[in-house]
Amino acid sequence: MAHLLWLLCFVLILVAFPSVSANLVIYTVTFVSCVEGSTCPQGNPSSYSATFALNGTLSPNITLNVGDTLQFNLATSVPSHPLTICQNSVVPSFCQGAASTSLLNSPITNAGTTTSVVFSTSGTYYYGCNNHPGMGAMINVIQTVTAAASASTTVVTSSAATAIVVTSSVSTANTASSVATAMVTSASTGSTSSSTKGTGARHQLSVLFLFTVIVALFTFIFT
Ligand SMILES: *[C@@H]1O[C@H](CO)[C@@H](O)[C@H](O)[C@H]1NC(C)=O
Ligand SMILES: *[C@@H]1O[C@H](CO)[C@@H](O)[C@H](O)[C@H]1NC(C)=O
Repeated sequence: MAHLLWLLCFVLILVAFPSVSANLVIYTVTFVSCVEGSTCPQGNPSSYSATFALNGTLSPNITLNVGDTLQFNLATSVPSHPLTICQNSVVPSFCQGAASTSLLNSPITNAGTTTSVVFSTSGTYYYGCNNHPGMGAMINVIQTVTAAASASTTVVTSSAATAIVVTSSVSTANTASSVATAMVTSASTGSTSSSTKGTGARHQLSVLFLFTVIVALFTFIFT
């Protein structure tokens, strides 16, 4: 035992880095009838009783992640209802009268045309008719929680008899949590490694940490 000079080193590194999922979200947009006070959006003019439908759903609110691209494929010609994506609007305006500085797209009116916007900042945006209120809804762009932490713990022995490296990465994204663990154990000079990936919870990190300490103690006692 005495001939072994132990160097026990714990390195705990927490690194937060953003994880951005960028998706292309496509809707086929039609202009269809709705029922005033029921299926029509707020503020819809009774003279129209019509609104944009996205993939057949009457003016739904949309939730996107920062980085997503929203693409509208207009399937109905709407000469008097330019399909507009904008910011700085309100309910129930939904882009009605949106100033040019608030436009995020070039409003389209012809069936067969497409318009798309990349949302790089979280916030509330809108789509609808540039000429009338109540023909659209909200686009909520959210930042998926970015705190992804990775931690590594290293135990090193001076005899090189045993080296244990435990690394884990914990993502605290609110939509999903993933824990990737990799454990590398090397005995003498050889080394083997195995890794597992799966979903898990934050406590796995402390379990791994505890496991590392226990293995280090056993190694110290029995070698
Ligand atoms: C809308 O419909 C199109 C065509 O079926 C499909 O490709 C697209 O994924 C749908 N969009 C959404 C957001 O579900
Ligand atoms: C969209 O969200 C707003 C605000 O939460 C809500 O008032 C409105 O009813 C929603 N519209 C639809 C179609 O769900």
